[in-house]
Amino acid sequence: MQWNPTWETVFSQQAWGKYPAEPLIRFVARNYYQTERSQIRFLELGCGPGANLWFLAREGFGFVGVDGSPTAIRQAGERLDLECPGWRERGQLLVADVTMLDLPTESFDAVIDNECVYCMPFDSALSIYRQAWQLLKPGGRIFARTFSAETWGMGSGQRLEDDYYICSDGPLAHKGASRFTRREQLDTLFQPFGQLQVEKTTVSYGGGEQVVAEWLIEGVKA
Ligand SMILES: C[S@@+](CC[C@H](N)C(=O)[O-])C[C@H]1O[C@@H](n2cnc3c(N)ncnc32)[C@H](O)[C@@H]1O
Repeated sequence: MQWNPTWETVFSQQAWGKYPAEPLIRFVARNYYQTERSQIRFLELGCGPGANLWFLAREGFGFVGVDGSPTAIRQAGERLDLECPGWRERGQLLVADVTMLDLPTESFDAVIDNECVYCMPFDSALSIYRQAWQLLKPGGRIFARTFSAETWGMGSGQRLEDDYYICSDGPLAHKGASRFTRREQLDTLFQPFGQLQVEKTTVSYGGGEQVVAEWLIEGVKA
């Protein structure tokens, strides 16, 4: 089990964001709004308390949400029960480690990694994305959002390996281990997907000194 139990403490002690990030909404709208939605199946790696799954359920899609935190999965289920009646007909929540998923190959139309795989070291991330490729149907897509190496906190605290820290500073402090990604690493990490679409968002705080920069990656299983 590579999931870090610090996340259990985070979800037991603080309220997590309830709404999906805009880049994910754009990805879903652009690629899947004009489909037979009930036939589309998403897999979210590290879904946390389910903000993205709540959006998918409301929009009529099928999904499997996986997280290592039993508290996050319980919170996701409670919110879906309350706000998305009937979601269980098309949705499923699993407490599991995303490095060891037992799911049928070629069974998903899209895989979402909205800041989950950055928690894992580089070699594990490589195998998680390879596994995502196997779980996707031909023509399926991956959407990943992951912290870039410019992000505030990179290099602080305890170094575990290159670009992988238990940060003592920045937004990722006290949230387990964090891996920061350089542009050139994206091609290796997402190698099975071939041609990638890569964007970067940058937000700065504290008068511009404290930067949070994230890669937004989209790939297709050709
Ligand atoms: C930054 S949170 C993101 C949550 C969610 N994707 C969102 O957008 O709100 C990272 C999540 O990944 C989960 N996670 C990290 N490593 C994991 C692993 N190896 N297996 C399962 N879940 C993992 C954590 O428990 C946490 O819920």
